Amino acid sequence: MNVRDSEHMIAELNREEPYTLTEELREADLIIINTCSVREKPVSRLFSEIGIFNKHKKKSAKIGVAGCTASHLGKEIIKRAPSVDFVLGARNISKINEVVAKKHAVEIDINYDDSSYAFGEYRTNPFKAMVNISMGCDKSCTFCIVPATRGDEVSIPSELIVQEIQKSVDAGAKEVMLLGQNVNNYGKHFTSEEDACNFTQLLQKISKIDGLERIRFTSPHPLHMDDEFLQEFASNPKICKQIHVPLQSGSSSLLKEMKRGYSKEWFLDRCAKIRNLCPEATISTDIIVGFPGESDEDFEDTMDVLEQVRFEQLFSFKYSPRPHTKAAEFDNQIEKEVASERLTRLQSRHTEILDDIMDAQMDKEHMVYFDELKAEGRVSGRSDDGKLFFVHGSEELLGKIVKVKVNKTSRGALEGTVCA
Ligand code: 5AD
Ligand code: SF4
Repeated sequence: MNVRDSEHMIAELNREEPYTLTEELREADLIIINTCSVREKPVSRLFSEIGIFNKHKKKSAKIGVAGCTASHLGKEIIKRAPSVDFVLGARNISKINEVVAKKHAVEIDINYDDSSYAFGEYRTNPFKAMVNISMGCDKSCTFCIVPATRGDEVSIPSELIVQEIQKSVDAGAKEVMLLGQNVNNYGKHFTSEEDACNFTQLLQKISKIDGLERIRFTSPHPLHMDDEFLQEFASNPKICKQIHVPLQSGSSSLLKEMKRGYSKEWFLDRCAKIRNLCPEATISTDIIVGFPGESDEDFEDTMDVLEQVRFEQLFSFKYSPRPHTKAAEFDNQIEKEVASERLTRLQSRHTEILDDIMDAQMDKEHMVYFDELKAEGRVSGRSDDGKLFFVHGSEELLGKIVKVKVNKTSRGALEGTVCA
């Protein structure tokens, strides 16, 4: 989401002035730090980064802080770091030209409605398009700061989404990544008069776009994974067979405390249904350990789900108390050491599972969409089920979907040769 927000900022800036990106801090006229506030660590890094940028930048260069931390700290950022010229919230991206022009401007209204705003065009990678389908979040998971930084959920009209995808396909993209905090809740919160369209129907509309060959999306919510959606996921050939199903915890009682809206049984049932309808699909997940009140039994439930589902990818985090969240006020916080031990155990076991999964890929064939030129004459891309591939090759492979046979496996990526 932040990567796409950055692209939108660049596109909007380019409407007024022809900015180009630079790797050289000293050359920059404008430095924008696009921040995350989901966990505490990136927030604490922000102020040290501002200090470093301020020390080494051109004297005339402006510094802006954007994104979720901008939304939640607002003018406090300028108070703590007066070298910051402007603050732009995650929900206010379309106002970037206004804030750049004004000294110490702060735009952080989380209810600002950008859902019908036609952002300028800018894509870091012309082969893969990211397209927002909704903004904000209508849930209130007790650990999560996002509703306080990205505001209420708003669905973007489907016509605009289709138009934007069409534009990116015309410019060379064969793959789209649909973005939203809760993509499969799509269609519940239009702010203008719209025909009913849920996520499954949106996927059907998008798959009609000529020249678009692959559809990915992130993140869906397990609660909204109804049978109709899973059926569409499994049967629509344009939908990539990779799905993120964020677990958070395997314990039903902890899931209740988290206000996730589903139980361990529902989660397992949904994953079993995915494996059953679509055995080739890969499932990834997010897990938090050390949520307030997490007992040994609760954690064993999480380990049990890991054993049963054998996720192909795991993003795991130690619980981090966040401002504006209910769980930060709970009086049964878990000791850091206990959370660290659990995280290590979870990650070690997942590494073993992943090694088995990746080793079994040897000699398998996948259709890979190549989208990036790498050093030493290599090209990278992803298989339909989301595995990262490297092959020897040149830019001729870019933008093509090609059959590749795996000849080397590792935990993070596969190497292979293009089949004749
Ligand atoms: N502490 C730790 N992890 C968190 N996440 C969200 N909020 C917190 C928090 N307070 C994780 C969740 C979410 C992912 C994007 O970040 O797992 O799915
Ligand atoms: Fe946060 Fe929950 Fe919304 Fe996801 S669904 S963004 S975890 S509040």
